[in-house]
Amino acid sequence: MTVRVVVGTQWGDEGKGKITDLLAANTDIVVRYQGGNNAGHTVIVGQEVFKLHLIPSGILFPNTVCVIGNGVVVDPEVLLAEIEMLRGRGVQVSPDNLKISSAAHLILAKHKKHDQEQEAGRADGQKIGTTGRGIGPAYVDKIDRSGARLEIFLRQDAPPDEQLAGLRDKIAPYIIDSVKYLNEALAAGKNILLEGAQGTMLDVDHGTYPFVTSSNPTAGGACTGSGLGPTKIDEVWGVVKAYSTRVGAGPFPTELFDADGEYLRAAGAEFGTTTGRARRCGWFDAVVVKHAARVNGLTDLVITKLDVLDKLPKLKICTAYALDGQAVADLPTDLVLFSRAQPIYLEMDGWQKDTTQCRSFSELPSEALKYIAKLQEVVGVKITLVSTGPDRAQAIRRDI
Ligand code: GDP
Ligand code: IMO
Ligand code: MG
Repeated sequence: MTVRVVVGTQWGDEGKGKITDLLAANTDIVVRYQGGNNAGHTVIVGQEVFKLHLIPSGILFPNTVCVIGNGVVVDPEVLLAEIEMLRGRGVQVSPDNLKISSAAHLILAKHKKHDQEQEAGRADGQKIGTTGRGIGPAYVDKIDRSGARLEIFLRQDAPPDEQLAGLRDKIAPYIIDSVKYLNEALAAGKNILLEGAQGTMLDVDHGTYPFVTSSNPTAGGACTGSGLGPTKIDEVWGVVKAYSTRVGAGPFPTELFDADGEYLRAAGAEFGTTTGRARRCGWFDAVVVKHAARVNGLTDLVITKLDVLDKLPKLKICTAYALDGQAVADLPTDLVLFSRAQPIYLEMDGWQKDTTQCRSFSELPSEALKYIAKLQEVVGVKITLVSTGPDRAQAIRRDI
């Protein structure tokens, strides 16, 4: 039995959904532990494209149970729509394979309204570029101790508003004590995967505050958001793109404004799953990923979207920042300093060959192997898996 956390190491959209789906084949239970439907996790199986916002990316395997943990904020209408969308496409979803924590908090209409109004009211330069899904305000109410938890659907005497009362019968069957369920499953020898949403740099504590989301996507959040204690976690896998992207506002030292940036956006189809916004693109930033290795205690690294670099003749990796005439190897904690950080790059040769059909390390071009080895060296975490395309089959495991 293994408890494995899958976290984003950059600004989200690293391919966590694809990796979670891939690992879910051998996992009994997949748990979302934070965030809400600000997330957009794309899973591609053959010709089928599934965009999941709230339901864990293990749902496509009928024998894998999915749990929405206590740390998640749930928009009940989005939840029901997602269940219907999956069922409409032939995916089995029932209280047998989807369970929701009674302690998860609700996103209400007022939270969405507040999120959108607050964002509209922010001055230029201060806009966060939220997804407008009510995530921040729902977490504000949770921390303020004035939020509503899904347990209200189980209390016949509770007076939820009319709209919520109408959803009670549909949602109540999914609600359980997920902390008890998960700890008992672990004691019974089950394998559990904790699927992060967003990424380390969007973490409210460890990211580029205030240009962050309102939860802890980092590995510590997997414990509080699931009720599995820290001593139960065996592995923390960090998912990282072979380059960098960010959607929404905030500092991004390796951002490209040139033809290479345009190329990455087009080749990587870098448009948001949730809002459709164009993602900002840039080179791999090892300072960021080292920070992620540190705050998540990463045991393994998964490189995704290596294939997006296939045609580029030269590649760059940021290994440090130039800041006020000094080379800085650690992420500056002060956003003002981070905003001024200039990337210091090492340059590598591209491979200019197709990697999408490669299924083993030995099939990869030698320059691609050198690039992967360099990423492992500069981040200092072993690379266990490399993804060279969106499909399940397009993955290379080190141990195969
Ligand atoms: P997530 O939020 O971390 O789950 O990532 P998203 O699903 O928002 O964005 C990742 C996108 O890249 C999705 O459209 C995936 O289908 C796609 N993707 C994942 N891995 C790879 C890969 O190795 N190569 C390519 N070309 N696309 C990938
Ligand atoms: P996945 O799970 C990328 C960004 C938003 C915004 C900031 C705050 O698909 O990786 P919020 O609505 O959470 O208050 O917005 O966080 N953001 C994401 N960016 N991927 C995500 O999720 C994101 N979820 C939120 O763009 O900058
Ligand atoms: Mg995404």
